[in-house]
Amino acid sequence: MTRSDTNAVEVRGLVKHYGDTKALDGVDLDVREGTVLGVLGPNGAGKTTLVRCLSTLIVPDAGTATVAGYDVVRQPRQLRRTIGLTGQYASVDEKLSGWENLYMIGRLLDLSRKDARRRADGMLERFSLTDAAKRPVMTYSGGMRRRLDLAASMIGSPAVLYLDEPTTGLDPRTRNEVWDEVQRMVAEGVTVLLTTQYMEEAEQLAHELTVIDRGRVIAGGGVDELKARVGGRTLRVRPVDPGQLPAMARALDDSGLAGVAGATVVPDEGQVYVPILSDEQLTAVVGMLAARGFGLAHIDTHLPSLDEVFLAITGEKTSSSVTDTIPEEVAA
Ligand SMILES: Nc1ncnc2c1ncn2[C@@H]1O[C@H](COP(=O)(O)OP(=O)(O)O)[C@@H](O)[C@H]1O
Ligand SMILES: [Mg+2]
Repeated sequence: MTRSDTNAVEVRGLVKHYGDTKALDGVDLDVREGTVLGVLGPNGAGKTTLVRCLSTLIVPDAGTATVAGYDVVRQPRQLRRTIGLTGQYASVDEKLSGWENLYMIGRLLDLSRKDARRRADGMLERFSLTDAAKRPVMTYSGGMRRRLDLAASMIGSPAVLYLDEPTTGLDPRTRNEVWDEVQRMVAEGVTVLLTTQYMEEAEQLAHELTVIDRGRVIAGGGVDELKARVGGRTLRVRPVDPGQLPAMARALDDSGLAGVAGATVVPDEGQVYVPILSDEQLTAVVGMLAARGFGLAHIDTHLPSLDEVFLAITGEKTSSSVTDTIPEEVAA
């Protein structure tokens, strides 16, 4: 994968009201070309409103946004030609076959009959749907439908793809299929703006994250950077002699090292956990333990999960996780 420093998407101060609701309250974000930006936020955060603004489906009240250099308000037609969109709900016609859906979309995008036919065949092949090409979509499984949605959004060979909660409501196996497809598309050079409520999904797919809540950006950065900024790290130390665990914890509690406080003994693991906020602290703690004669069998540092991160920044628990979603309905 080649990554450049050019931004495929640039959003500045974007505002959108619905009556009294401020769905977007001054959003800034960038998506670097060839990367995946995860826009993470709970229900009602403003994710779909953002995607709709960036797709020219609705017009923002204030602020600016450009996609591939085109302005969402002043150059909507050029912009639409560079994007693909897969929404939370299927956008294909149930009664038509997979092939007919893709052919129709190709024609709507002004492809010639021959090109639309070739593109439909190619995308069915690409998303492993060739065998089901002639069957009505209502006979497809949830995973096949999602793949057809992705194929539909790729018909126009978009440079930038928006995926709005692409796996909400899918069972774990279908979710994994979607993740694989997204990773393949990114490897092929597509820039992706992905909205999700799932920390695990953001962690799997996103290079950078923007966390939004109630229409505002509340945090952003690289996945590890975000975790480190919010929660610091936990140093885990295992002494050679498990009998030394209490003495080691006491030494850490009384270390007098700046900012180091509160070691926790985890007897089952034979380890002591120490919260660490900087590399200097890490070095000082390990040095102190060695100076006091503790033999160390193993040390490592552990970043918090994105669930912990979200709780720390928003003060709210995430509403759901990938593993407790409703299973897909498998059609007859
Ligand atoms: N068409 C609409 N009319 C009125 N309010 C809306 C409309 N669409 C969204 N909203 C409100 O705007 C806020 C953001 O919604 P949305 O962008 O759909 O959030 P998300 O996709 O993150 O769940 C919510 O409070 C929602 O109720
Ligand atoms: Mg939404």
